[in-house]
Amino acid sequence: MKIECQINGEARSFEADPEMPLLWALRDLLGLPGAKYGCGISACGTCTVHLDGAPVRSCVVPVATVAGKRITTIEGLGGEHPVQQAWIELQVPQCGYCQCGQVMQAAALLARNPSPSREQVREGMTGVLCRCGTYPRIEAAVLRAAELSRAKESQS
Ligand code: FES
Ligand code: FES
Repeated sequence: MKIECQINGEARSFEADPEMPLLWALRDLLGLPGAKYGCGISACGTCTVHLDGAPVRSCVVPVATVAGKRITTIEGLGGEHPVQQAWIELQVPQCGYCQCGQVMQAAALLARNPSPSREQVREGMTGVLCRCGTYPRIEAAVLRAAELSRAKESQS
């Protein structure tokens, strides 16, 4: 089936089996390997992307359901996003495997709530697993990203 959607701000059109997970379409058909495969059953969050602004586990989203929708992958954050800046500043990753999912979950959280409490960060980041246990740095980096976003806003 032909799928038409918007990915990282660009109109894209491609042929895919309607049941193909969005994750495979992004990685194998569209040249966007940022989202990673971890479990394939919506249990780890490493495949997280945004669908119309909300974080979704792309390993369980049939590609047919994204027709006409807006997808953002980590490639679409552009490198200067406050979450990415905070991640670098606080040297969050260890092995790095889960981190694209962590960053996408954090970016969606801050888009929804620009000034989260520590508790809200903890709650909002639940479900994206890190086997290296970088959770304390992730929490600190989300709070730092919120500060950076607010500083950016006040300058503009
Ligand atoms: S690979 Fe999608 S949630 Fe684990
Ligand atoms: S940094 Fe290794 S799994 Fe998270």
